[in-house]
Amino acid sequence: MAQSAEQTIRVGIAGTGSYLPERILTNDDLSKMVDTSDEWILSRTGMSERHIARDDEATSDMAAVAAQRALESAGVAAEDVDLVIVATCTPDMIFPNTACAVQEKIGATNAYCFDLSAACSGFLYGLETARGLIVSGIYSNVLVIGAEKMSCITDWEDRGTCVLFGDGAGAVLVQPLQGEGRGIISSAMGSDGTLGDLLKLPGGGSRFPASNATVNERLHYTKMGGNKVFKNAVVCMAEAGQKVLSQAGLEVSDVDWLIPHQANMRIIKAIADRAAFPMEKVCTNLERVGNISGASVPVALDEAVRDGRIKRGDTILSVVFGAGFTWGAMVLEW
Ligand code: ACO
Repeated sequence: MAQSAEQTIRVGIAGTGSYLPERILTNDDLSKMVDTSDEWILSRTGMSERHIARDDEATSDMAAVAAQRALESAGVAAEDVDLVIVATCTPDMIFPNTACAVQEKIGATNAYCFDLSAACSGFLYGLETARGLIVSGIYSNVLVIGAEKMSCITDWEDRGTCVLFGDGAGAVLVQPLQGEGRGIISSAMGSDGTLGDLLKLPGGGSRFPASNATVNERLHYTKMGGNKVFKNAVVCMAEAGQKVLSQAGLEVSDVDWLIPHQANMRIIKAIADRAAFPMEKVCTNLERVGNISGASVPVALDEAVRDGRIKRGDTILSVVFGAGFTWGAMVLEW
């Protein structure tokens, strides 16, 4: 049953939306907070500014706006959504899940809802999950949202990490394809739990429950071994990208747009260099939004769709990498 459905049901993205908070934090602002400079941040990361949510703005608030915009662009009513997946490492609360909060805000009364934890890889993990559930023939309208309030888990006294992250949300509505086009062509996801220590937020879970000690030791903030993360990110994203292209029977030259996770411009350039892929065909927004973790790819996708860069029939390759380690790649026809 599942096998025959798999042969017939193609899955694609019917609408996109995104949201960035109003407040902008520039490199010059950061240089007044920690010992850094615009020159260091720009040359080491490619970032100039990032958006920061208001104190009273939680992840679900941003996710709901992005989701509404995705539904509008798909022309689908919230009541018709079957499933809401929110990929985030900054949920509103440990429970209830953020996806339920989004459901309540947008009125997706007939959906079931869950969060997905894969840090910066969460959005592609969510798309892969949506694809599998739609191919099963059971679900028709799945909202996949990447939403993060990274500013609330960022140590604003640690110059090694605080210059990197921003806040925002991106969403897509995933459906069985009705018309022409191939939609999602191939995908490859991976994880390596042996390297989990290199990128983590240790405090507040069952390992180190919140206490005065965890707060004093700043365990509720992101900890990262930047250099090792950098190297693994390049290798994993480059290899995953190559794998999905060969699974799809495509060459690098068949790709119209590469949408990588926006962790660092030097990581993105290293991936493009390895594949001899032209930077003009890489969608980047980290210079304006920083690293928004799970929201990076859907925000970059929505921007490129809305400004007309991505057109019907284009072949898009997306590659992601994040804490876990987790990584993935997907190739799709728009
Ligand atoms: N301003 C000025 N100097 C700084 C800053 C700063 N903001 N941050 C670090 N430095 C200093 C360091 O202290 C160090 O000084 P030292 O040589 O005197 O010790 C020097 O700059 C070099 O530090 P490195 O860490 O080696 O710098 P690097 O070139 O590796 O850049 C960076 C650091 C930008 C963090 C990089 O390693 C990186 O981008 N890593 C990957 C991040 C990433 O991919 N994250 C992905 C996922 S995030 C998620 O999943 C939630």
